[in-house]
Amino acid sequence: MRILSIETSCDETALSVVDAQKTADGRLSFSILGNVLASQIALHREYGGVFPALAKREHGKAIIPLLLEVLEQADMKKDVNEQQIISEEVLALLAREPEAKEAVQAKLALLAKPDIDLIAVTNGPGLEPALWVGVSVAKALATLWNIPVIGVNHMEGHVLSSLAPVGTQTFETVPITFPALSLLVSGGHTELVIMKAFGIYEKIGQTVDDACGEAFDKVARMLELPYPGGPEISRLAEVFSTNHYPLEAKSLLSFPRPMLHSKNYDFSFSGLKTAVLYYIRDHVAMLNEIDKMAIAHEFQNAVVDVLVAKTIRAAEEYNVRDILVGGGVAQNTYLQKILRDAATDAGFTTHFPRGDIAGDNALMIAFAGFVEWQKKEKSPDVVGTLRANGTLSL
Ligand code: KG4
Ligand code: ZN
Repeated sequence: MRILSIETSCDETALSVVDAQKTADGRLSFSILGNVLASQIALHREYGGVFPALAKREHGKAIIPLLLEVLEQADMKKDVNEQQIISEEVLALLAREPEAKEAVQAKLALLAKPDIDLIAVTNGPGLEPALWVGVSVAKALATLWNIPVIGVNHMEGHVLSSLAPVGTQTFETVPITFPALSLLVSGGHTELVIMKAFGIYEKIGQTVDDACGEAFDKVARMLELPYPGGPEISRLAEVFSTNHYPLEAKSLLSFPRPMLHSKNYDFSFSGLKTAVLYYIRDHVAMLNEIDKMAIAHEFQNAVVDVLVAKTIRAAEEYNVRDILVGGGVAQNTYLQKILRDAATDAGFTTHFPRGDIAGDNALMIAFAGFVEWQKKEKSPDVVGTLRANGTLSL
């Protein structure tokens, strides 16, 4: 089946068109027909973080031009000659997205219904005003084209994103054994989830305060580094560890590993963030480059120590073979190396998302949409009841 997917939960507007099938042995097969993304990062960088109202406005401006682009890529953008009437119902759905509404009137009215069977849209978790842009447009298109629409949990997208093999447009998901363990580390979430089958998840632990990516971003701000902070900290830590800086810079620093030995699978990053704050306040008069690198290095070590120890312990207790890592922080090369090594030593196989679907993207929403469709085929979401929910949980 052909799926149009839409993602607007944070600061990326993304759409894809994917042909999805289930194989005889229960794996999923995908062919990417189109994939587009507009990032707002440069804009949010000026303010040091993502502002929901600004994110919403930018999604509203970008979404219809991106829709036309992704349909073009998928060879589905066929203009019709006679003017199609956009019903009041569709316009009403778009009424809360003024930018999108204008573009719809101008452009969508000329577009023939594409060869799409299902629309999958992220309806949470995320920034609610931003989510509503995708949800409103998805509902409007589903009404206009008379096809079903399904709400997708953004985190399910991150769980599945590591199952796409590297480098191909058409692929079957890499084989894994159920139950599998998923470590989700993004800007808004830090979770350990048992995946019992496609579409069946049990959360076994989560952060009790800040998310892991959020801690990276906040510490980066303390170090006067631009948003998003994760890649910046990772880069400085790498430079630090590959150079021979004065020993005292290395040995002075020791940040806590919060909840490392707690019996559960919960995480906490706020104390670590505060430890960095106090260290800077008490020991650093003027932040120089070596200070920044040393702090970034020790902070990243502390985060990775906790993530890896808990993930391996959960993998052992729940008797899994495969560990799936997802979310923006999964791009951290130090986490990848340490977790892969520890997992290999303990007999587990790790899976990380390939580069083009490591951050937020629409392909993972199409994958998750297909998985959810398999469960709900007989009772798809009704346009009228689908809502954005900023705190949607797996
Ligand atoms: O999944 P994602 O793209 O968006 C959310 O759903 O939140 O995750 C974004 C988060 C940001 O906090 C960003 O700083 C972090 O992922 N991140 C990283 C790296 N790349 C992105 N954190 C650590 N190391 C990285 N290389
Ligand atoms: Zn995300």
